[in-house]
Amino acid sequence: MGKRKLQVTTFFLGLLFFSACKKAETNFTVNSPNTNISVAFSLSEKGQPMYMVKHKNETVIDTSYMSFDFKDLPALKDNFRIINATTAVFDESWDMPWGEQLTVRNNYNELVLNLEEETEAKRKLNIHFKIYNDGVGFRYEFPEQENLKEVLITDENTEFNLTGDHKVWWIPGDWDIYEHLYNETKFSEIDALSKRNHENLAATYIPENAVNTPVTMKTDAGLYLSFHEADLTNFAGMTLKIDPANLNMVSELVGSNRLGGKAKLTLPFNTPWRSIQIAEKAGDLIESKLSLNLNEPNEIGEVDYFTPMKYVGIWWEMHIGKSTWDMEGSQDMNTWTEGKSATSRHGATTDNAKKYIDFASQNGIKGLLVEGWNTGWDKWLAEANAREGIFDFMTPYADYNFNEVMAYAKNKGVEVIMHHETSAAPLTYEKQMDEAYNFMKVNGINSVKTGYVGEIIPKGEYHHGQWMVNHYHKVLVDAAKKKIAVNAHEPIKATGKRRTYPNAIAREGLRGQEFNAWATDGGNPPNHLPTVAFTRMLSGPIDFTPGVFNIKFDDYKKGNQVNTTLAHQLALYVVIYSPIQMACDLPEHYILDGKVHPAFQFITDVGVDWQQTKVLDGEVADFVTIARQERETDNWFVGGITDENARNQNITFDFLEAGKTYKATVYKDAEDSHWNDNPQAYQIEKIEVTNSSTYNVNLSPGGGFAISIMQ
Ligand code: NOJ
Ligand code: CA
Repeated sequence: MGKRKLQVTTFFLGLLFFSACKKAETNFTVNSPNTNISVAFSLSEKGQPMYMVKHKNETVIDTSYMSFDFKDLPALKDNFRIINATTAVFDESWDMPWGEQLTVRNNYNELVLNLEEETEAKRKLNIHFKIYNDGVGFRYEFPEQENLKEVLITDENTEFNLTGDHKVWWIPGDWDIYEHLYNETKFSEIDALSKRNHENLAATYIPENAVNTPVTMKTDAGLYLSFHEADLTNFAGMTLKIDPANLNMVSELVGSNRLGGKAKLTLPFNTPWRSIQIAEKAGDLIESKLSLNLNEPNEIGEVDYFTPMKYVGIWWEMHIGKSTWDMEGSQDMNTWTEGKSATSRHGATTDNAKKYIDFASQNGIKGLLVEGWNTGWDKWLAEANAREGIFDFMTPYADYNFNEVMAYAKNKGVEVIMHHETSAAPLTYEKQMDEAYNFMKVNGINSVKTGYVGEIIPKGEYHHGQWMVNHYHKVLVDAAKKKIAVNAHEPIKATGKRRTYPNAIAREGLRGQEFNAWATDGGNPPNHLPTVAFTRMLSGPIDFTPGVFNIKFDDYKKGNQVNTTLAHQLALYVVIYSPIQMACDLPEHYILDGKVHPAFQFITDVGVDWQQTKVLDGEVADFVTIARQERETDNWFVGGITDENARNQNITFDFLEAGKTYKATVYKDAEDSHWNDNPQAYQIEKIEVTNSSTYNVNLSPGGGFAISIMQ
């Protein structure tokens, strides 16, 4: 931990230090520590709060207004005066218990404005800005006060007034799911409503022409912007409503039909931070730790019960239709419909689990996930009202000898990961949680993958609304008390809370690998992950589940495939950050000519916990190359992926220590590799490198490369 420096300056009305304007006392400008970014805050003629953001004299966010609408109360909008303004300088370093790097510098200048209405009610609102070298965060703070005790927010109106028709990578502002493909359009051409009625989504609701965050943009001048929120706690998730004609966005909170509004709160409270990342290079977006820095420090202490790890699982085989989650075989999971099959093809059997455990222990893989181990799966796709109470998180199916599998795994040094699919019935889950977590701990299980497939019960709630935000939070807090780490699927988006609750290890919250197995729209195109790296990944770790070697899996599904090369799959272990990384393919697909596939060695070797991370090169939605140094071993791993275009990357190894010669193994596309025509072709090359070496590598269409540099 570094030293924290804090200087506070208080400005009373009439004092200097603000930019000249006609009402000097209501204008404040604060710069980032390196002065590249500045935020100007002022009140309009009517006394409405507004702000602007500049990057090196270029206006990035033009005059943007702020206000709140409430049920049964006048809006909090104008008639404000500034009763006090304070600035402070902050500089500290903190260590990540696990992460992309060991130490994070948290350095910003802040501005806090205390506003009060000039009406009889004299309602108060504070606006808190933090200006970093890599962006800006601000939030609203509702202090305790006489004339405002409780609010039902019907709208938060935070504007982000853009200064150009930027190129945008966006997904629709779905209230239920983030599992949409990214679209690349000009801002003025965003049409989220055209993304409704997606046939592969069990729950989806897109009420407005809005986008979900993080949403990333590139200006004509080549500046990168990404909008998101940090520390989403006891509030509704924020989408951004698009005003194409005025190049303006305004916060649109996810609602609740039961609440008749967006978020209900008792004062005092703070909203989540609204954040804008600003970067001159695309890769700097990835290196930025803005979102984490805007969150509170660790509140749960050591998380040494969680070890970052790679894992295999009884999982992909259900998605490609080889087996089923339920023992009865009454559900065809790979088409997500009911339809009785003649015989049981249950994946989670004792013998099958042992097969995965054997493979894991022989190949340096630490974890095993078993889905479909517990009763309830025969009804999990039922209508909403029939899904309450179906899952049991303590009772294994008859053909899965839980104790025998646990003992076998322990004996082979493999750690079992629990699976709790809730079928979007959080109340059923909350009822059993305490007992289910005790059951895990008694059996030595330290992490759980949760799932929320389907429309939320009770009806009227959405995955991203305040009620569910509170549920996901409760899971984290209760799990932390029991020393359990959580990997949530169909989650609320990551907002940097892993800093405060480092038992929040990973989550889905995007179109994962599974879409390649069952989507009817061709799966994830080759540019999917080069886009995800600069959008979804900015919010936090992703359980993408890479590692498909049998790219076309024609034995199971002729109409589906993974749309990348094998080398691209390897590169994902470095490119897509997560402290847990699945090797998702079937054990038999990792066998070539009777032996473990030579390329699997990279998965065995690659790290999952990093000392430092460097984005070597990249362009949003085109390609990205990242180098990461493993903690403790100091081994380096490099991964690069490309979209549908072939590419050449020249790697400079200047990140290595001077004066040392390292042995490196390069796993790359073959000359004729192609994501569709020849996806499994690969080459392995052994080289020696020093910190002055360069290496030229060709990436095939949809291809990639991975390099391990071992001490
Ligand atoms: C969807 C999740 O994303 C997937 O990983 C899981 O296998 C299924 N739900 C079943 O829980
Ligand atoms: Ca999913």
